[in-house]
Amino acid sequence: MSYTQGDHFHPGDVPPLPPEYLVKRPRRLRSHLGLRRLVRETVLTRDDLILPLFACEGTRVRSEVASMPGVYRESVDRIAESARAAEQLGIPAVILFGVPDRSQKDAEGRIAWAPDGVVPRALEAIERAAPSMLRIVDLCFCEYTNHGHCGVLTEHGEVDNDLTLPNLELQATSLADAGAQVIAPSGMMDGTVASVRNALDELGHTQVSILSYAVKYASGFYGPFRDAADSAPAFGDRSTYQMDPANAEEALREARLDIEQGADMLMVKPGLPYHDILRRLREEFDMPLAAYQVSGEYAMIKAAGANGWIDEPRVMMESLTCMKRAGADMILTYYAREAARLLR
Ligand code: PBG
Repeated sequence: MSYTQGDHFHPGDVPPLPPEYLVKRPRRLRSHLGLRRLVRETVLTRDDLILPLFACEGTRVRSEVASMPGVYRESVDRIAESARAAEQLGIPAVILFGVPDRSQKDAEGRIAWAPDGVVPRALEAIERAAPSMLRIVDLCFCEYTNHGHCGVLTEHGEVDNDLTLPNLELQATSLADAGAQVIAPSGMMDGTVASVRNALDELGHTQVSILSYAVKYASGFYGPFRDAADSAPAFGDRSTYQMDPANAEEALREARLDIEQGADMLMVKPGLPYHDILRRLREEFDMPLAAYQVSGEYAMIKAAGANGWIDEPRVMMESLTCMKRAGADMILTYYAREAARLLR
């Protein structure tokens, strides 16, 4: 058959190819491992990983979180060892969550800014044990208040945004004084980034950066974390401050506000069900982006893996790689150690 013989060929059409060439073969580029490596678009590395750690009171405490096998609450001595081990695995950063004793909690969460609180002590211990490890801290009140909400309550039991801001400033500056290098506000209070930035700068902490949980949804996927951090709300839920999972345009507004207020990096949370949001932010803003593979995502993969229903390491790596492909520059994950081992 020649190019000009087809009955249906008109000038301007793409000339028909001889039938032996008609099949396009994308499989060709998958036919050899070497080729697959050469054409791979997304590469997960240890440089992408942030390990969450939970700091509690006591000494030599290492208690496993029931709904998160392989995740522990650790006293300051143990958390320093964990940070050192993570440093040796090549993980660049940890993010710290405080788990104070219940007796230390009050309605305002004052223990959150006490200089001898569990997180400031953990920061100092990690600085000594693992000096090259970047120290990020979560900035929020749900772990510190006796009602488990992320700020100060009004008499009607609502979280009062503007009364919470000065407390966030106190918490941020106290943690920066103790050696936090990145502050990650996760409470979804309006104006947090501006307040915290100003407070840090006033005290000379101009080099402490802000990783804002700008886009944080009111999600059922945080369930196991609330066991780990003992931070479940005593009444109600977080839907008056965290975002509605049904919204996407609002995520762009949240992100824009935090950029205007001086955020250095933005986070989308949870990870897996919100890849569309991550991708939108990636395309809209030229900011470093973090994704959080949250506790419920970890627990699902763990549980299915433990039952032999899925191949846990494989699903873990696939899930992390997909977060990067969707637009994340960095990933907070309870799997950071396991992933770092496989990536070594
Ligand atoms: C604190 C905070 C939460 C998480 C991170 N920071 C809990 C929440 O908002 O209830 C969840 C992390 C996870 O599920 O792994 N506000």
